[in-house]
Amino acid sequence: MRMVLLGAPGSGKGTQAAILSGRLGVPSISTGEMLRKAVSEGSALGRKIAGIMATGDLVDDETMAEVVRERLSLEDVRKGFILDGYPRTENQAETLNEILAERNLALDAVIHIDVPEDELVKRSLARHRDDDREEVIRQRQRVYLERTAPLVDYYAKRRQLTRVDGHQPIERVASDIVGSLPACEGPR
Ligand code: AP5
Repeated sequence: MRMVLLGAPGSGKGTQAAILSGRLGVPSISTGEMLRKAVSEGSALGRKIAGIMATGDLVDDETMAEVVRERLSLEDVRKGFILDGYPRTENQAETLNEILAERNLALDAVIHIDVPEDELVKRSLARHRDDDREEVIRQRQRVYLERTAPLVDYYAKRRQLTRVDGHQPIERVASDIVGSLPACEGPR
């Protein structure tokens, strides 16, 4: 199962990726988590992106291509993966297609977790992560609308998109996602 979780900041991508990873037996790959780890470790990547992360803007596509290409070359993604937070621009979606095509692979599912805007900000404010200051949250929402929301159409046109109502209890969202998936091998 090779899956992309698409949704605004606070829509529950990370929450669902963790649940689905356990249920489907494939790793969840959160680019946000990977980047936050790089920043907290002070690696070369972390030093390069710390300023951008702090404002809520997007890290550039070239840097993200390197990060994701390297992560998808690791052994644990052989059975599949759940991508949380990538792609976030059309350019990133094209890069992901290329990386998969090089291996004769394709995505099995792109899930759009749809949540009303006022609920999104409420959830992020309640979470208290380091980058969850209100102005940064609002900037992440703006960036999402401008740069990432067009991917909903991008995948819908390719008939790869499934919309799931994310404004429901966490377990309900998870069962709706699992129920929407094409048949695949491995535990559910
Ligand atoms: P990232 O970490 O991906 O942040 P995000 O997209 O802003 O998403 P969040 O983590 O805020 O929300 P989420 O949808 O995962 O929701 P969650 O499950 O946490 O990215 C951070 C930064 O990294 C970006 O701003 C950018 O700078 C950089 N970056 C990352 N990827 C990049 C890329 N590809 N390109 C360029 N830059 C990139 O849930 C939120 C809260 O709601 C939690 O408290 C949770 O418990 C709660 N919750 C979840 N589901 C429900 C529910 N159904 N009901 C009630 N509460 C719920």
